[in-house]
Amino acid sequence: MNDIKILAIESSCDETAASVVKNGRDVLSNTIYSQIALHTLYGGVVPEIASRKHIEKINYVIKGALDEAGCELGDMDAIAVTYGPGLVGALLVGVAEAKAVSYARKLPLVGVHHIEGHIAANYIEHKDLEPPFMCLVVSGGHTHLVIVKDYNKFEIVGRTHDDAAGEAFDKVARAVGLGYPGGPKVDKCAVNGRKDAVDFPRGHVGENQYDFSFSGLKSAVLNYLNSCRMKQGLDGNVVYSMKTDRPDFDPFELIDPETGVTVADVVASFQAAVVDVLVSHTVEAAHEYGFDKIAMAGGVASNSALRRAMKEECEKKRLKLYYPSPVLCTDNAAMIGCAGYYEFINGTRHGLDLNAVPGLKLGER
Ligand code: KG4
Ligand code: ZN
Repeated sequence: MNDIKILAIESSCDETAASVVKNGRDVLSNTIYSQIALHTLYGGVVPEIASRKHIEKINYVIKGALDEAGCELGDMDAIAVTYGPGLVGALLVGVAEAKAVSYARKLPLVGVHHIEGHIAANYIEHKDLEPPFMCLVVSGGHTHLVIVKDYNKFEIVGRTHDDAAGEAFDKVARAVGLGYPGGPKVDKCAVNGRKDAVDFPRGHVGENQYDFSFSGLKSAVLNYLNSCRMKQGLDGNVVYSMKTDRPDFDPFELIDPETGVTVADVVASFQAAVVDVLVSHTVEAAHEYGFDKIAMAGGVASNSALRRAMKEECEKKRLKLYYPSPVLCTDNAAMIGCAGYYEFINGTRHGLDLNAVPGLKLGER
């Protein structure tokens, strides 16, 4: 069989990314222009600024990906692009670019679901991994437990009722005075804390035992911080800027002098509550549905405490665990090229009327 080379584009949020992927799992290049430094100035992603940056960078990023792969557009067999979910203006840049290349070069166009891409990131470094398996998808916008039935067949068996896991990390980071993006900063700060210092709630909601809820936990952390501050006669409702870390941020600062609880203790206890719920739901669901393979995907899957705890639990239960390297957990185009390949060989083709779909559901065409 001839090699199939796919040029992939990802622009759903604040990363402008392009990649050349051969036969689905062989990444020839993975070019990412991260806008994080820019959005940090505003304390979070500003959609219009993201779109404008994408349009400025996208051609350079694609050229970078082709050059690094030692390829030209003429060598490509198809073009894959994220068309949802995500920020509409940001998605439109990638979709319009992919359509232009597809039209000019007469290349088949394959629209890819962003979460399908995150899941596929696991195939890149784990050549032995094949569906079916249970996948925990944890990103800034999504928290899903997904049965990956086949490369392009999914069933969601658990979802968040409110905040996504990454969103909770970002909000708690802000409450203690760590800047944007919160997840990696909480991960680092928690190393200095005791995870059993504060007993935060492990949220369960509704009928479905595999659903998640993180807004109660987030409120519990905020209430705890406020009550400690008030006990010390300070203003309880402190709101820190998300732009940068507090200049005087000290992980060992006492939050509650009576009990000796520090900022790092609060952060570590919060992280442990999130990790506990993510691990127990995933392992229980794998057991109930009869899977011996678990994968993790999305930005939060790079969290060191989550990786450690999931690994420990999977070893105990004799489950095989897969997760991508951190650079493939957060947004990138290699994962879109991988998912795009499996869509392509399954016959998926989109026309030049492909549009951005900000609320695209997993498994929808
Ligand atoms: O998958 P992703 O790059 O973008 C979305 O599709 O949303 O995920 C970004 C999210 C952010 O909320 C970020 O704070 C979180 O992933 N994140 C982490 C870590 N690295 C990124 N959360 C916890 N620990 C980390 N090490
Ligand atoms: Zn993502």
